[in-house]
Amino acid sequence: MKLRENVLISELTTMRLGGSARFVAEVSSLADVKEAYEFAKDAKMPVYILGDGANTIGRDEGFDGLIILNRMKGMEVVEETSDDVLVRAMGGENWDGFVEFCCERGYSGVECLSAIPGTVGAAPVQNIGAYGQDISQTVDNVEAYDTRENEMVILGRDEMKMAYRSTIFNDGPDAGRYFITAVTLRLENDEKLEPPFYNSLQKYLDEHQISDYSPLNLREAVSAIRAAKLPDPAEEASAGSFFKNIHLSDEEALTAREEGLKIYDKPDGSHVLNAGWLIEAAGLKGKELPGGFHISDKAALILINDSAKSYKDLEKARAEIVRTVFDKFGFRLEQEPVELVAKERRA
Ligand code: EPU
Repeated sequence: MKLRENVLISELTTMRLGGSARFVAEVSSLADVKEAYEFAKDAKMPVYILGDGANTIGRDEGFDGLIILNRMKGMEVVEETSDDVLVRAMGGENWDGFVEFCCERGYSGVECLSAIPGTVGAAPVQNIGAYGQDISQTVDNVEAYDTRENEMVILGRDEMKMAYRSTIFNDGPDAGRYFITAVTLRLENDEKLEPPFYNSLQKYLDEHQISDYSPLNLREAVSAIRAAKLPDPAEEASAGSFFKNIHLSDEEALTAREEGLKIYDKPDGSHVLNAGWLIEAAGLKGKELPGGFHISDKAALILINDSAKSYKDLEKARAEIVRTVFDKFGFRLEQEPVELVAKERRA
């Protein structure tokens, strides 16, 4: 295990905010994981697990504890039949690298999750999703170190209670309990997704006259759409979608429609009010905000940090967006990225 002391969280997270973490450990084996947790236990310090920091916001007070960075590597095909295939990757692998590994072999089920930043181990935590797919549809199991019982466990799909951006790993009494060491997906072998696809993806495919919906072709399309719209975290500081989409009941959707709001009815019967739409309709797209932030002119859900150094600056920008949208539409936006605080202090 590689241990460093007093490391700026702003350097570990793509929004580039946050004070110092007391310790940071990089783990590349199971022995390392156990050693890191023992170290924290002996020092009576809280632990926070981080991948690439693409969906995490640091606070000014930093973190008086141990941040563990998962650097466990490896990808393999575990089992393959003519119908489906089990593929496994270690938690420290780059998520998009794993998607590429799958698509190149013609395996289908995660092609729409191309070009999402972050690590494999972080992907199930918030049930990443895009263009109609989310990882709950294909995850077979995760291997994890259970820090309560100090043992390795295998959790099946149903045990993870996956919903929109929510799972046992980030919501409820077991949040922070499991350190995910590996993720195994069950993908389709030699199957192609069928149209119609999610709006923006379908539009891209039509415009580019792509009718072979192979995993690799869809991966390229999704990557191109994302590259055109979403900032590269290496160039512009952001944390992906900054607000959650709002899920409405049948009744709420009806009222909202009558008021002229744009609602998307999902194939599963639920209704989504796009936070990006609300922000754009409130006139905030591309706008400068107090605190040194602006809203991307390509995607209204993306908040970009131009010059802010302090979490207080983020609070100012966030408050401005939430207030403007609330005043206009009566919906209160909720932040999507998590904040790097000791678990017992999380709201
Ligand atoms: N919209 C606008 N203006 C905008 C952006 C969106 O009006 O500037 C409206 C449009 O009506 C559009 C709809 O929102 O048709 C959906 O937009 P988009 O396809 O861009 O998706 P999103 O709802 O804004 C979600 C995820 C993204 C994911 C995309 C693609 C959340 C919070 N975000 O965004 O995930 O890539 O769908 O499926 O659910 C992330 O979580 O970091 C992330 C990037």
